[in-house]
Amino acid sequence: MNKLSVKNLYKTYFDGESNTSVLNGLTFDALGSKLTAVVGESGSGKTTLLNLISTIDKPTKGEIIFNNTCINNSHHSEPFHDYGFVFQFHYLVNTLTVAENILIAAEIINQPKQDALDRMHNFAEQLGILHKMNNYPFQLSGGERQRAAFIRAIINKPSLVLMDEPTGNLDQENSKKLQELIISIMHEQDSIFLVATHDKDFADRADQIIAL
Ligand SMILES: Nc1ncnc2c1ncn2[C@@H]1O[C@H](COP(=O)(O)OP(=O)(O)OP(=O)(O)O)[C@@H](O)[C@H]1O
Ligand SMILES: [Mg+2]
Repeated sequence: MNKLSVKNLYKTYFDGESNTSVLNGLTFDALGSKLTAVVGESGSGKTTLLNLISTIDKPTKGEIIFNNTCINNSHHSEPFHDYGFVFQFHYLVNTLTVAENILIAAEIINQPKQDALDRMHNFAEQLGILHKMNNYPFQLSGGERQRAAFIRAIINKPSLVLMDEPTGNLDQENSKKLQELIISIMHEQDSIFLVATHDKDFADRADQIIAL
């Protein structure tokens, strides 16, 4: 079973004038097929935590272990690619269509094209954005972009899915649809799903809640 362990994690930012410390020794485990919600007020360190786990950034102290390999500590980080990230500000490439944005992730790991297309089609249909696949991101609403970014993050069946406010721009009905899809994929793949969210309904569905 997939397992992520966060041990005694600290992050201190220095912006040239003052220090900001977050996480303050955070320790927890997250398991495959389980939804872990990360909650806390704005500025409490949710995005910081996801950035550290994804190895985009390094902790000041502490370590992150994925399936017995230390992927990130203050001294070194192993290359780690088996994750999908739904960023708070989605970061779709504006010069590519939505479909191209999603499929490029599959091309990078040489996923058979038809498999990727089938998965994309299926998820886009479930999330109600199939008719937007040939549009460019700037032609989509915030919530439509968010759903597209979600599909991009899961197209390669990653073992670890990091989601930063994935329902932040969605109405209740679409948020529910996305939650259902997340839970069904999570069980299908034994993936660890970690979601930073202010959405209380979503956090209530989690198997565990990490409060920062
Ligand atoms: N690169 C940086 N340099 C300096 N301070 C930073 C940097 N990135 C984040 N911070 C500070 O660290 C704290 C945690 O930021 P973070 O983005 O992790 O919060 P968050 O919990 O995701 O908030 P939100 O709910 O608003 O998204 C904030 O006080 C922020 O100002
Ligand atoms: Mg954030």
